[in-house]
Amino acid sequence: MTEHLDKRRVQDFARSLFGHYTSGVLTLMVDIGYKTGLFEALARGAATSAALAERAGLHERYVREWLGAVTTGGLVDYDAASGVFSLPPEHAACLTGTSSRNLAANSQVLAMLAGRLSKVAGCFRAGGGVPYSDFRPDFTEYQDVSWRLLYDGLLLKGFLPVAKGLPERLRAGIRVADIGCGTGHAVNLMAREFPASTFVGYDFSAEAIERARAEARDMGLPNARFEVLDVTMLPAEPPFDLITSFDAVHDQRDPAMALRRIAGALAADGTYFMLEPRAATGLEDNVGNPFAAYLYGMSVLHCMTVSLAEGGTGLGTAWGEQKAREMLREAGFRSIDVAAAPGPQNSIYICRR
Ligand SMILES: C[S@@+](CC[C@H](N)C(=O)[O-])C[C@H]1O[C@@H](n2cnc3c(N)ncnc32)[C@H](O)[C@@H]1O
Repeated sequence: MTEHLDKRRVQDFARSLFGHYTSGVLTLMVDIGYKTGLFEALARGAATSAALAERAGLHERYVREWLGAVTTGGLVDYDAASGVFSLPPEHAACLTGTSSRNLAANSQVLAMLAGRLSKVAGCFRAGGGVPYSDFRPDFTEYQDVSWRLLYDGLLLKGFLPVAKGLPERLRAGIRVADIGCGTGHAVNLMAREFPASTFVGYDFSAEAIERARAEARDMGLPNARFEVLDVTMLPAEPPFDLITSFDAVHDQRDPAMALRRIAGALAADGTYFMLEPRAATGLEDNVGNPFAAYLYGMSVLHCMTVSLAEGGTGLGTAWGEQKAREMLREAGFRSIDVAAAPGPQNSIYICRR
């Protein structure tokens, strides 16, 4: 058997496989850099290991070893003659600061998912799934920090204007609901920007809703409220002019019911604004999509399993545009326009009945 192997191909694959493991470890190094403030400290100026450790208030031995990983991993530059490390400005843009380009917080995904890996692996044999409650509270925190800067940078100027005329209607004053609102940052930003409109965020996580309410209080928003609700029970009355959902349909226990409820809770001329991961429904059409393996993996380790845990559909993160269109039509939407959301990863569906 072995003699038929193309040895070159074996070597290449082994190298590439180990490269994936290396990327995983580097993701954890980014997580540590984010949590300890090392990237922010290094962005303030080039430094030796000792100077950086002192600047960040950390133990030098750990910092030096971490620098070894992020330097050989290509995240940080190193001048051997002076022993000085630096963060190229282009890397600093993606690892520090408050712009939506800063992806450092997203690195938390790996440790968060890995903590549930053996339970998910068990479901491959036993069936069922790992429920949402098993992922909290760190899922709630991860979801908040990984989307917060994106909303700050893109929600008002990038996402909402994809629906023509929507910012104007929001400015004039309409009734809005956000489905699966999590910690509610999107709702709170909209409520601050559009004081004539009223907003309600629904999520079945009491912990996430508590955080959403606290932020609304801190921001002094009389027009934003949050309710713990399973959105498959969303009432039809009184109707909303706009319903939004950000990354919150594909992991539903019963996404078909959630979409029907959304359609039923809209005013006759209302709009459903759905943001979901950009993918095709057919696996073959996702080959070559650089984010597809990430989406399917997220699905196995979180989005699909939380749905299957409740005996649900297990739609999966990469349910894709064709399936989404089909389900939106079945839910009662006659007009469905799909646009690329700013950034490479999401699509926006503008739906009307
Ligand atoms: C991937 S998170 C997105 C959260 C939020 N939209 C954001 O962008 O940060 C999906 C959210 O949907 C909520 N969710 C899932 N199924 C739900 C249901 N049936 N009713 C209410 N909330 C639900 C989860 O608790 C979670 O907060």
